[in-house]
Amino acid sequence: MSTAAQQRLIRPARNISGSLALPGDKSISHRYAMLGAFAQGTSRFTNFSTGADCASTLGCMEALGARVNRIGGGAIEITGVAGRVTPSANPLDCGNSGSTMRMMSGLLAAQQGTFTLIGDDSLSRRPMGRIKTPLELMGANLTLTEGHAPLTIVGGPLKAIDFTTPVPSAQVKTCVLLAGLQTSGATTVREAVRTRDHSELALRAFGATLARTSDSISISGPQQLHAIEAAVPGDLSSAAFFLCAASIFPGSNLVLDAVGLNPTRASLLDVLTALGAKISVLNLEEKHSELVGTIQISGPAEGLGTTAITGALSAQLIDELPALAAIGPYTSGGIRIRDAKELRVKESDRIALVAQNLRAMGAEVIEFEDGLDVPGGQQLHGATIDSGGDHRIAMAFSVAALRATGDTIIQGAESAAISFPEFFDIFNNIAER
Ligand code: S3P
Repeated sequence: MSTAAQQRLIRPARNISGSLALPGDKSISHRYAMLGAFAQGTSRFTNFSTGADCASTLGCMEALGARVNRIGGGAIEITGVAGRVTPSANPLDCGNSGSTMRMMSGLLAAQQGTFTLIGDDSLSRRPMGRIKTPLELMGANLTLTEGHAPLTIVGGPLKAIDFTTPVPSAQVKTCVLLAGLQTSGATTVREAVRTRDHSELALRAFGATLARTSDSISISGPQQLHAIEAAVPGDLSSAAFFLCAASIFPGSNLVLDAVGLNPTRASLLDVLTALGAKISVLNLEEKHSELVGTIQISGPAEGLGTTAITGALSAQLIDELPALAAIGPYTSGGIRIRDAKELRVKESDRIALVAQNLRAMGAEVIEFEDGLDVPGGQQLHGATIDSGGDHRIAMAFSVAALRATGDTIIQGAESAAISFPEFFDIFNNIAER
């Protein structure tokens, strides 16, 4: 990000209460932006993500010929390129966004032209071999820099493949589906763990036909997408910080309106319920096949219990694990996380940074290659937190700071704007002091 590094002082709170609505889901906004920009016609979205990551997707798609009208207040209009992008003379800047780079690569691999994709320091360290493998099997030409960005794609006609993802990754699945959308024959992606299905739902909403089995999704190309109008559901992964904050305060009361509750994303509610939080979901409805509802939560009088997050659950909760680990000390029996090695290749090494920052706050924590043991019954003290420029670390430790003794300083707090620029304003509104 270009913003200068900022520190935020977080004071402990007495309780959490309030009612709020969240900006649009980051995953869904990326997909609506990419598909709207590729479709025929003008799409209109409300409550589009305000985060810098989705702005990166919009910027790249504009550079490829789509027209974007940022109306304000989360409303945007995108006029698509009707299936044919214009190669850009300049590199496409994906910023901090792995979703932009990995998903857009699939879209571009089947287009005529040469495309170079770049990112910031964090994104330039993240593994891109996972998209190179399937795209090369389809016949695409992709050059990485030691397994990372910058990457160059020489696009052209591809062939359909049947591909099993080696790591659970919705970004890789989407990359292959977006290439398959433009390729003759049936392209199939198989996954051992079912990852978020926003791409499948969004592709259908834009008029594509896909076939699903319990462990696979197929798309037969070429297919033309058509513009849609949609309200983006509130981001449950952003809501996660407030849900975790409410959970650690007995008697808290928080209401979150119009939050995305897609079952492939909503495991956090089950985990918090298992820990003892009182959660109700109201006003459930479906918008373009995405479930949306109001969440009401309060922290249990007896405090949170204990839980283990392993196997498929770890993959489904991957973005929420930093926040859950950060509240682990405030549970009675601790939180055990395994099978979450992917956390090490996110915007930062989230296992290492969570452990380092919990220790800075005085907690005992055991680090594993694929997870963490955070024992319960520990009182944290205020500390200086190193966010590592990672939005989810900055927000997770702001939550941990609410029940610490003394003040906490979050270094690199501006990184919250990657997914959630409004985070600190809302956070200060719901924290009673
Ligand atoms: C995302 C998928 C996940 C997630 C990321 C967003 C998506 O990444 O961590 O924040 O929108 O598809 P992986 O696909 O690498 O698991």
